[in-house]
Amino acid sequence: MIRLTDVQKHYPGGTAPALDGVSLSIARGEVFGIIGRSGAGKSTLIRLLNGLERPSAGHVEVDGTSIERLSAAELRALRRRMGMIFQNFGLLASRTVADNVGFPLRLAGVSRHERTAKVEALLDRVGLAELRDRYPAQLSGGQRQRVGIARALATDPDVLLCDEATSALDPETTRDVLELLRDLNRELGLTIVLITHEMEVVRGLCDRVAVIEAGRIVETGAVDAIFADARHPATQRMLAAVAA
Ligand SMILES: Nc1ncnc2c1ncn2[C@@H]1O[C@H](COP(=O)(O)OP(=O)(O)OP(=O)(O)O)[C@@H](O)[C@H]1O
Ligand SMILES: [Mg+2]
Repeated sequence: MIRLTDVQKHYPGGTAPALDGVSLSIARGEVFGIIGRSGAGKSTLIRLLNGLERPSAGHVEVDGTSIERLSAAELRALRRRMGMIFQNFGLLASRTVADNVGFPLRLAGVSRHERTAKVEALLDRVGLAELRDRYPAQLSGGQRQRVGIARALATDPDVLLCDEATSALDPETTRDVLELLRDLNRELGLTIVLITHEMEVVRGLCDRVAVIEAGRIVETGAVDAIFADARHPATQRMLAAVAA
């Protein structure tokens, strides 16, 4: 479904490339983890998938189409197919829970009537129906991320991109959010790409994982296999952090 071929990303003024020859493919319905330390290039990689960044060289394909070739309108359509959630939740502070969730639908020109029905269904699904009129500041971190997830799902995406979505949450709330993501993957066949610096999160949710270090993928494989037999020192270091 998603294929990167020899992707390079140089930022203007950057000395080393942020990504240096990254190739990977992600199948439809898969939960794919990307793990690495700070500055490894994880956010750059995920932003290439929905066209927020363009590769300096190489190709990013979604369903067989190179995203570099898309027109502005096609790129907007692609972004609607790819929901995204963030570490800091990215909610609008001055809007209620319901308005936050309905926001992408408003942008897409969906009628108020349809929006209300869709928002109710989404809030129900993430367990927040009761909190629809609250403001983000009146929610716990876990509740805020549920709003983020509901909002990301508003346009019925095929793919959910998660950039450190649980990094601001305590371990128990992290488990709840990962469980919700796992359920959504199973129920909706949602493809999930999840960035993290924690192996525990990879173990809790992912089918496969790629380990990224200084802009390169140094190891990739099934999560069970990597936990059983990590080859690269970067992977071993992150596994040691779990054991500690
Ligand atoms: N807009 C930008 N302009 C210039 N350099 C950037 C930009 N965004 C990221 N970089 C650089 O690219 C490299 C990779 O950054 P990236 O944000 O992808 O890392 P990351 O793995 O997501 O890190 P973290 O775990 O801290 O979020 C870093 O060296 C960073 O300084
Ligand atoms: Mg990042």
